[in-house]
Amino acid sequence: MSLFKEVTQRIEPQPVIEGAGVLLRRSIAPHASNPHDPFLLFDHFAFNDPAEGPIRGFPTHPHRGIETVTYMLEGSVRHRDSLGNTGSIGSGDVQWMTSGRGILHEEMPRRSPQGSIDGFQLWVNLPSRLKMSQPRYQEVVARNIPTVADSGVCIRVVAGEANGVTGPVTGIAARPLYLDVTLDPKAGWVRAVPSGDTTLAYVFEGAGRFSGQEISAVHMVRFGDGEKIQVQAGPEGVRFMLIAGSPFREPIVPYGPFVMNTREEIQQALIDLRNGTFVQE
Ligand code: FE2
Repeated sequence: MSLFKEVTQRIEPQPVIEGAGVLLRRSIAPHASNPHDPFLLFDHFAFNDPAEGPIRGFPTHPHRGIETVTYMLEGSVRHRDSLGNTGSIGSGDVQWMTSGRGILHEEMPRRSPQGSIDGFQLWVNLPSRLKMSQPRYQEVVARNIPTVADSGVCIRVVAGEANGVTGPVTGIAARPLYLDVTLDPKAGWVRAVPSGDTTLAYVFEGAGRFSGQEISAVHMVRFGDGEKIQVQAGPEGVRFMLIAGSPFREPIVPYGPFVMNTREEIQQALIDLRNGTFVQE
């Protein structure tokens, strides 16, 4: 095994339409082969063109067996759910929603005063022992997400640890690292990430060399095994989400907003929805 994780895959985000006609850039999506275990999906919602028209959002829909993580850069997402939670995820905020056995929720993006919406939704799998657990929310406003800055590298620590600072989202089965990393022009960064952890970077501003490979916005890269990653910013600097976590190595059966371990569990989710027993107090 090499010291540095090499870039093994360069993923071009694909435009997709989701919800009630929301245009997204999708880098990864749930698949039975589970190539990025424990990560299932990564969507980037960016509506910066008024010509795209009104924002229709994501009307009420269910989730079971996963965690959905909304991290906003600009604009906000109003949300409302079957457990009585309601609120707004604003610029710089994160909502880490552990669906467990089930929630029904609505997610409605809103433009910032400048007219933009920019943010990410990551889906993280749950291991079989937690798929039917009680739903749990961790909502953290921007001022409670710590920022660490050193030698031209600025990191917002959402989950996991950076420079001895631990992020506010805790108790997640995948032991995730979720960092918003900005490198000044020409700055360099070396970061240890446990070998065996699935490691992804989503480059959304600027460009840089990732383990020696030139990567520019907007792209996702997948790293292979190794102990560290190395990033060298280009002349404009680079900004990316670093996403890493330990795989569960369990079979998965994805079906729309549900990801379970067996077909029978998917059928049960559909029966529960039909019978009105999907959400339990
Ligand atoms: Fe959702």
